[in-house]
Amino acid sequence: MSAIESVLHEPRVFAPAAQTVANATVSGMAAYEALCAEAARDYEGFWARLARETLAWHTPFAKVLDESKAPFYTWFEDGELNASYNCLDRHVEAGHGERVAIIFEADDGAVTRVTYRDLLARVSRFANALKQRGVKKGDRVVIYMPMSIEGIVAMQACARIGATHSVVFGGFSSKSLNERVVDVGAVALVTADEQMRRGKALPLKRIADEALAMGGCDAVHSVIVDRRTGGDIDWIEGRDHWMHELAHAQGETCAPEPVGAEHPLFVLYTSGSTGAPKGVQHSTGGYLLWAAQTLKWTFDWKPDDIFWCTADIGWITGHSYIAYGPLALGATQVVFEGVPTWPDEGRFWQMIEKHKVTLFYTAPTAIRSLIKASDADAAVHPARYDLSSLRILGTVGEPINPEAWIWYYENVGGKRCPIVDTWWQTETGGHMITPLPGATPLVPGSCTLPLPGIMAAIVDETGQDVPNGQGGILVVKRPWPAMIRNVWGQPERYQSGYFPAELGGTLYLAGDGSVRDKDSGYFTIMGRIDDVLNVSGHRLGTMEIESALVANPLVAEAAVVGRPDDTTGEAVVAFVVLKATRPQGDEAVKLANDLRAWVGKEIGPIAKPKDIRFGENLPKTRSGKIMRRLLRSLAKGEAITQDVSTLENPAILDQLG
Ligand code: WT7
Repeated sequence: MSAIESVLHEPRVFAPAAQTVANATVSGMAAYEALCAEAARDYEGFWARLARETLAWHTPFAKVLDESKAPFYTWFEDGELNASYNCLDRHVEAGHGERVAIIFEADDGAVTRVTYRDLLARVSRFANALKQRGVKKGDRVVIYMPMSIEGIVAMQACARIGATHSVVFGGFSSKSLNERVVDVGAVALVTADEQMRRGKALPLKRIADEALAMGGCDAVHSVIVDRRTGGDIDWIEGRDHWMHELAHAQGETCAPEPVGAEHPLFVLYTSGSTGAPKGVQHSTGGYLLWAAQTLKWTFDWKPDDIFWCTADIGWITGHSYIAYGPLALGATQVVFEGVPTWPDEGRFWQMIEKHKVTLFYTAPTAIRSLIKASDADAAVHPARYDLSSLRILGTVGEPINPEAWIWYYENVGGKRCPIVDTWWQTETGGHMITPLPGATPLVPGSCTLPLPGIMAAIVDETGQDVPNGQGGILVVKRPWPAMIRNVWGQPERYQSGYFPAELGGTLYLAGDGSVRDKDSGYFTIMGRIDDVLNVSGHRLGTMEIESALVANPLVAEAAVVGRPDDTTGEAVVAFVVLKATRPQGDEAVKLANDLRAWVGKEIGPIAKPKDIRFGENLPKTRSGKIMRRLLRSLAKGEAITQDVSTLENPAILDQLG
């Protein structure tokens, strides 16, 4: 077994301000350690306490964790609750009906505010409409919608009647949508006529029609359409219904259907490494507990905060930190239909100013592209906006390189706001390894320490712990309430993929490489294990080489992959986006040499890229992830055969090939 080598060291540490510590829910490291100690002492008691304090139960649970069918774990199994009741009714009953739940800003800047009382009425009407269309408890409903109040209403309405939703991101192609509808066995599809992006209308209903015509979708008896733009669409009488017509015919009360804690709240598809989508199945009780609890801990949420998570409801971040977590707490949140770059790259900063956002959560990819934009055009620099409302900043989805972290900290957070670099996955349901803003001293580029109750560790390929300072495989040693319950309809894939026999069969395999700092024990994510490069017998994670490249003042973004090489086994190929325009010819050759020397100096000769290619951008999913799989094909000179329908910018592939 050869370990993954860790080659970077980050010396900067930012301790939380005394004021931040004093006001925090988890106040100081001693408080964090006390929670960890409670979990270590009485694991089930710890989780049971949180579940009782955080959620309203229709039937209290007596059982906590059942490991008898491991790795098919159950939590709070004999308890019953309703997620929608927890997100809506209980706040209205507590007298908070007039509190704003959602501040919705459309692509064109129009703002709609919805109170908890309004949202409850809208969800109840739509829940009644679903029932009238024959949707029953346990049925699956696919939601293929833009970022919208209606999208959240559709999710909550499913939860209210005990139907399991599966949200498919609105950027997916008809083929991807068809595969998901078929795999999950949906009986109904909720969509919109069109969606608005950058002032342009894009089709949704037309793609949904194509998807349903592709076969295997006979079970879909109803297509329910939100009228977003009024654009032209085809209509199948009997099958198709307007969302507003169905809902307005209904009463605005609908009793929430109690479900068992293990009842599948949703299935969310994530592309597995083999490409075939995997339906990640989540529970109701354990999932909702963690979505709410982590928002309280990680973002130190308080009732007067204005929370804004920029993710789409088509991803897990939009499930946990838009559709469920904030509503379960009774929070006020901003929901945004548009994109960060329209009408210009100052949109995020302008919206933070306008809505007085206090807690802001976005992706490193977005930050890096806004750094590049504000370097090129001072008018969209965050310094031009009043961001003084901000209290805490967060990142998710990819490692954030220290240089981007520092920029975010200084320019967006005014050196005042802690940054929570939250490591987690679709499968984990909520945050797993992250700083706590009023406790953890921050180190740029590190997601720091596991949340209380999360038994994260780093092991070698046989499942043995590795010492701090040595890179290895990130695992979680004990089940936790919000974890994936199954791969929809494929239990073997769940068991072998997440609890592989090679690691002993009981460790949850996250698929990321990681290292813990020798002194602090802090975790740093080194990239996906599948992306690890092997150069002359040295195993290198992608993150550190990329970080070294981005530390160069000329570089905006970088992605690194391996390519087979006769002498070194694998050679490093780097795809680089400069802050200035894309260099060509001699200039590109000179810059590539300079950057090679730079990496040699920052990390060592072993990590020097053999090939450096410049582009105006990198291929990214609209959730902000760099598609290294595509870059690997390009590096090898292969044709792209993968589905590129979720790519934000497919044209970029020509430039990089
Ligand atoms: C993978 C999970 C988590 C919700 C959105 C993405 C990478 C995620 C971080 C972070 C380094 C991160 C990991 C992880 N990742 N957050 N803070 N630092 N890497 O969910 O699509 O399931 O992706 O995203 O590689 O395994 P996902």
